[in-house]
Parts: sequence; C-alpha cells; structure tokens
Amino acid sequence: MTMEATQTRNPTAQHRLPVFQKFIDDVRAAWAREGDTKARMKATTELLRGLVADETLRAHARDWPSTEGHKNLLLYEDPDYGFAINAVVRAPGRKGSVHDHAHAWTAYGVLDGTESLERFERLDDGSREGYADVRMTSVTQGRGGSVDLVPPFDIHAEQGGPTRSVAIIVRSERVAGKVLQGRYNPAEKTTHKGEGPTQVPFEVG
Ligand SMILES: [Fe+2]
Repeated sequence: MTMEATQTRNPTAQHRLPVFQKFIDDVRAAWAREGDTKARMKATTELLRGLVADETLRAHARDWPSTEGHKNLLLYEDPDYGFAINAVVRAPGRKGSVHDHAHAWTAYGVLDGTESLERFERLDDGSREGYADVRMTSVTQGRGGSVDLVPPFDIHAEQGGPTRSVAIIVRSERVAGKVLQGRYNPAEKTTHKGEGPTQVPFEVG
C-alpha cells in the first residue's frame, strides 16, 4: 500500500503526528506481509515497542483526556485490515477489573507512568453457567516503553500505578460494540459477559 493510497482513505492522515502516522503505515505493511493474525500481532508488538519509546508521542500524550468511566480513546481503526488502536489514560491508583478480550489479540504498550498486567488461569472447565474459578498466575510491571501481547480469551487485569499512566493498545479488531467480553470476579468465583469500553474518537495530531 502506498502512502498516497493510505492518505486517500484517511483524509486526516496529513494532520497526524508523524511518528504515529509512521506507526500506522508500518503496521499496515506488517499486516500485508504476514498471513495470519498471530504473526501479524507479533510484528505489531515489536513496532509498538518503538512507538511507546518515542519521546515526541510521550510529550503529546501529557494532554490526552482521562478514560475513567470505562472508556477508551479510539485513535485509529484500519479500513482494510480492521485492526484498531486505542489509548487508555488511567488516573493514579486506578484498579482494573478482571476480563478477557474475546477472540481478539491485544498488544499493550505503556507510554507513560507505570502499570501492571496481572494474568489469570481458569481452573474450572467453564461448563457451569456464571461460574469461573480463576487464579492469578503472574504480574508484569510495565513502565514507559514496556510492551506485552495478550492472546485471545486470556484472562487478565491492568492495574494503574501511583501516577497517571497512558497505554497504547493495538487490537487485532475492535471488539467493543461488536461482541461481548468475559468479566470475572475471582473472590466470588463468578463470571458474566459484558460490553467493552466506550470508544471515544481521538485524533493524534
Ligand atoms: Fe485488557
């Protein structure tokens, strides 16, 4: 895909922060090159590592609005491949809930502040309606520049750190508003399906 064709489809592209537009172009090239979603998302995660290390974007994100209230900023959704780029801006000490992202792959990058990614395993076989026995298996600390790839249906929680934090998230497709995601209460051993975060369009420019 040429730059010219990209800009024809995305008229706002010329106003985007150059480092962010380059990231979109590079991800599109990786998706054109790789055939399956896992390979595409592994390549995307490596590109995300470069993006969240970028000081220009980190400085730009200082003014991004909070996503408190179960929101995500929707920075970009690809018209051809369907991948979506979100940002989450957490208040200090934000507690995240335990959830999955249904069938989507999710690349997480911490751009500013610190966050931790808690991973869980499910001990029951999922046959009892509304019941889920999940146990935390690991916690990964992320700071500016850290990335992580979360496979489909992996149960996890993102926790805010002591300061405001900003994360960039690339999903293999936008899940919110399309399918329901699993939500889990480890203490009560319950689960239900719920709506994903509200998508708030936000232009990085
Ligand atoms: Fe998540």
